Amino acid sequence: MIIKTKKDIPSSEITDPLVFKNRRQLIKGMLATLIAGTGISPTLANNKSVWGDLPKGSFSSDSLSLTPAELIKNYTNYYEFSFNKEDSTSLAQNLITDPWSVEISGEVEKPGTYYLEDILRQQSLQEYIYRLRCVEAWSMVVPWVGFSLGSLLKMVKPLSTANFVKFTAVYQPKAMPNQLSNTMLEWPYIEGLRIDEAMHPLTILAVGMYGDTLPKQNGAPLRLVVPWKYGFKSIKAIVKIELLKRPPITTWNKFAPNDYGFYGNVNPTVAHPRWSQNTERQLGGSFFTPRRQTELFNGYGEQVASMYSDMDLRHFF
Ligand code: MTE
Repeated sequence: MIIKTKKDIPSSEITDPLVFKNRRQLIKGMLATLIAGTGISPTLANNKSVWGDLPKGSFSSDSLSLTPAELIKNYTNYYEFSFNKEDSTSLAQNLITDPWSVEISGEVEKPGTYYLEDILRQQSLQEYIYRLRCVEAWSMVVPWVGFSLGSLLKMVKPLSTANFVKFTAVYQPKAMPNQLSNTMLEWPYIEGLRIDEAMHPLTILAVGMYGDTLPKQNGAPLRLVVPWKYGFKSIKAIVKIELLKRPPITTWNKFAPNDYGFYGNVNPTVAHPRWSQNTERQLGGSFFTPRRQTELFNGYGEQVASMYSDMDLRHFF
């Protein structure tokens, strides 16, 4: 596996913009061939997947009923654009997502800036049907397309001093009105994980959903998905990943430390200061659908509880 850092790349190898454009077209062509050759993902009903026939990720669940795609696409939290869920959906269409690269730095042997295409070529995409639980007490089930974050991190070889991972979202104030006016939160949006959480096989970077590419409003072209944590941890539009010795300062934790902890683990017994976390409204349900009982770690306790066995989850919320 060859990963070159900016420093290592001789100028003769720097991609000419025209070649880069052609390469993108080539990738699109490859995707089209895959569709023709391999059939349809079971989550797609009559629609074909742009990613081809994807294997299921470990822990992806077939027993969950999917939230309709239209609902997932039209009810979004994307505060760089708006605090209103419909407005953020439409305004997000202004985001420029192509070309896209991710800088990986800090406590790693192989820091560098990588084009998304180059990352994707080295990762095996899978479908992950996961529950997503927002701290606002609603939930949905999303068939993500993505790859293991741990597998990407292994490529850059974390040093033994890498204890935390910091994620930074894009800063594009021309497209993102709340960045331009510096509204409420500090921008860019920042999130973080402990290294064992980042390496956990449940943790993925998503590039698609419902067999399609990721809609801009849902975090295109690359977002984090950590299904046992509240949705605010699953940062959208990632441009930078840093491996750190010390925990990073994260956006919501800095804004309101009593309301949003660093961990953000779903926990029905730790209420938000202004509302209970005991139950949740399932998106896509009718007026008569009962609220769902929230589960510790969003139902993924069997896989993740051991990472927190020596911790007081009321303190480290
Ligand atoms: N990432 C960025 N960059 N900006 C945001 O405002 N909102 C978070 C998270 N990731 C957010 C973000 C919150 S609060 C939630 S609940 C989820 O995205 C929502 O993801 P969805 O809009 O795809 O449902």
